[in-house]
Amino acid sequence: MYRTHNCGQLRMEHIGQEITLSGWVQTNRDLGQMSFVDLRDRYGITQLAFNVDSDADLHEASTKLRREYVIKITGTVRERSSKNSKIPTGNIEIDVTSLEVLNEAKTPPFTIENETDGGEELRMKYRYLDLRRKPIQENIIFRSSVAIETRKYLAEQDFIEVETPVLIKSTPEGARDFVVPSRMNKGQFYALPQSPQTFKQLLMVSGFDKYFQIVKCFRDEDLRADRQPEFTQIDCEMSFVTQEQILQTFEGLTKHLFKVCMDVELGDFPRMTYDEALQKYGSDKPDTRFGMEFVELNEVAKGHDFPVFDNAELVVGICAKGQADSYSNKDIKKLTEWVQRPQVGAKGLVYIKYNADGSFKSSAGKFYNDEQLAAFATAFGAEKGDLMLILCGETDKVRSQLSDLRLEMGDRMGLRIQGEFNPLWVVDFPLLEWDEDADRFHAMHHPFTSPKKEDIERMLTGDHETMKALRADAYDLVMNGWEIGGGSIRIYDRALQEKNFKLLGFTDEEAEEQFGFLMGAFEYGAPPHGGIAFGFDRLVSIMKGAASIRDFMAFPKNNQGRDIMIDAPANIDQTQLEELTLKILPLEK
Ligand code: AMO
Repeated sequence: MYRTHNCGQLRMEHIGQEITLSGWVQTNRDLGQMSFVDLRDRYGITQLAFNVDSDADLHEASTKLRREYVIKITGTVRERSSKNSKIPTGNIEIDVTSLEVLNEAKTPPFTIENETDGGEELRMKYRYLDLRRKPIQENIIFRSSVAIETRKYLAEQDFIEVETPVLIKSTPEGARDFVVPSRMNKGQFYALPQSPQTFKQLLMVSGFDKYFQIVKCFRDEDLRADRQPEFTQIDCEMSFVTQEQILQTFEGLTKHLFKVCMDVELGDFPRMTYDEALQKYGSDKPDTRFGMEFVELNEVAKGHDFPVFDNAELVVGICAKGQADSYSNKDIKKLTEWVQRPQVGAKGLVYIKYNADGSFKSSAGKFYNDEQLAAFATAFGAEKGDLMLILCGETDKVRSQLSDLRLEMGDRMGLRIQGEFNPLWVVDFPLLEWDEDADRFHAMHHPFTSPKKEDIERMLTGDHETMKALRADAYDLVMNGWEIGGGSIRIYDRALQEKNFKLLGFTDEEAEEQFGFLMGAFEYGAPPHGGIAFGFDRLVSIMKGAASIRDFMAFPKNNQGRDIMIDAPANIDQTQLEELTLKILPLEK
């Protein structure tokens, strides 16, 4: 037997018992007469004591144990003379009577401790060692508990878990597909699913009624802290439901997960329309842990011979409470440079300080007298000591720029508090988005999303401008500035689906070739249906306040989409290429 207990289990009540433990050597301290080894497994750390006087050979053997050796010991639990209140097993130690080295270990390339000396690259190369570290192990264990609770909750609500295929045809979710060449069907390719979207809809046609799956999805897109090329969704679909019922069901799931896995009670989730989110926060995924809402200023700003404002479509700002004193001219200059970075892209920044003595100072002071600056302050609801920050330009662009600035100010002012959770539903997304450059519409959510019932007739008969104004029964679950999930009520009528593909620039033939199977299914008694998918990696990361979803994935990819541990992607053999009838063209330098 390798163990009677684990390394996090033994307490005072076990004193006197003979036990066997197996695990990894965390540290080894040789004090001459005594040596102490910390033995680690995923449950904790237990101190082992080896005494020269009790058994000199055993003591000698213990001094040879190096970090990360895998050992098995037997011994007696005894009370420690110097206790360690920091760990649960800190009151006891093991008086070891036998020791077996199960496997030796090379010195690890970084320390396997909570705070390690290993850099990101090294830790990813030796991810299996990084995963031995407690904080990372806790993340993975937490993730598992959220998955298990999700399954329990949804099963309780009569959801059925169905696996859908991974080798499929393209499902457009807005990213590029990863493709897999077929050996048996030469020259042809499978696509890996960006989501199981079409399959879950087909399951509704089949009558499964309530489906879910914790499922891998694949998207070939630029990576960020909250994006990986392969990630996991809690994917769900329901028949005979309204948007309201879907929101209630998944608000229920979210609250349950926070309660059971975190002991956090979330209140009811507010709803905000897409338009309101953009107007107030410049983003369809606002961080509502803090206010600092946008104030539109065209009325007070225009008509004072300040060309920058006069020529702008929208003048809009935020009020940073109590910050007037904290920002010197130099700080304002730096902040201006910050908004001018290409990532943000603002042309400039106008500030107005409402000083403690009631006076105003502004970079646009030449154009506005104190009374006019006071009108800005009134519009902002500003008080003495506040700093008003104003951007202007084309509506969509300036809103997005100000959104970046708002989040930055939120960070600087410590308003994005860890451990605080502000979920909300963003609803009433537009159905279509007009792309000037490509001269075509894109689906705002995906092509299977239904317009609102009251918009269906207009969609079937309306003109180009009408299409821009169509609203969808589409919704996102947003928390702390992250999009946790998104879904919609679906089209279940062939004619409407055909119309949507047409608007999205598909010819009839293309639509038939790519999605004929789905539209065909709609002709065999498709029920009204809708659903949602949560980004599972994002959900667990947000719950624990992590900056990157990688921390909650056992084997994530780096920013270049590489797994540097297994060194993927990699070249394949010439014979394999030939078998697949593939030829690699010379790479462009
Ligand atoms: P959507 O494309 O909005 O909807 O995706 C659902 C959720 O998945 C997460 N997500 C990601 N997480 C990590 N890395 C990525 N690259 C990534 N891309 C998306 C987000 C997002 O909210 N089939 C629809 C759902 C539906 O309509 O039911 C879909 O996939 O948290």
